[in-house]
Amino acid sequence: MPARFDRYSKPFNFQRWIDAHAQLLKPPVGNQQVWQDADFIVTVVGGPNERSDFHDDPLEEFFWQFKGNAYLEIWDDGRFERVELNEGDVYLLPPRVRHSPQRPEAGSRCLVIERQRPAGLFDGFEWYCANCGRLVQRIEVQLMSIVDDLPKAYARFYDSAEDARRCGGCGTVHPGRDAATWHVMRNAHRSG
Ligand SMILES: [Fe+2]
Repeated sequence: MPARFDRYSKPFNFQRWIDAHAQLLKPPVGNQQVWQDADFIVTVVGGPNERSDFHDDPLEEFFWQFKGNAYLEIWDDGRFERVELNEGDVYLLPPRVRHSPQRPEAGSRCLVIERQRPAGLFDGFEWYCANCGRLVQRIEVQLMSIVDDLPKAYARFYDSAEDARRCGGCGTVHPGRDAATWHVMRNAHRSG
C-alpha cells in the first residue's frame, strides 16, 4: 500500500535515527526498516553478518554502503563473483542477480532500498554448492514482510536433513546455517 501524504509525518535526522536504533543494527537482529507500509522498503543493515543464502529478487535493489566495508557474493551461471561495497559506494543491483551480502565488519552500515513485490511476483532464496557451484536448493516466497517471512524460508533449508542439503553434482553436503563453514569451503575451492 503506497504511503499517502501525511501532514504529521516529518523529515527526520537520519544519523539520530541510526543512533537510536544502534542496538538493533548488530547481531542477532542486524537490520531495521525505516518506514512501514511504504512502496519503498528502506532498511539500514549493520555488521557483522555472514550468510550462505543467495537472494533472487525479482526487482532492483539499491545499496549505499555509508559506513565500513562489505561485499556481495554473486552467483553468475555457476561461477562465484564478488562485488565490493567499499565505504561511500552506491550500487544498483539488477533484478534476478543472485546475491549474498557479506558484512564482516562490526559497526558497518548500509542503506538498502527494495520495492514491495506485487502479488504473483516471487522471490527466490537459493543455496549453492561451495565446491562446484551447483544449485542445492531453491525456495520461492511471495514476500510480504522481510522481517517475518525470511526466517521461515531459511529455516526450511537449515532444518532439513543432510540428504536434502547434498549437492546432486559432486555430493558435497551444504553446511546449512553455518555460513562461516560454507565460506571456508568456498574459499578453499577458489584458491585450489
Ligand atoms: Fe557440488
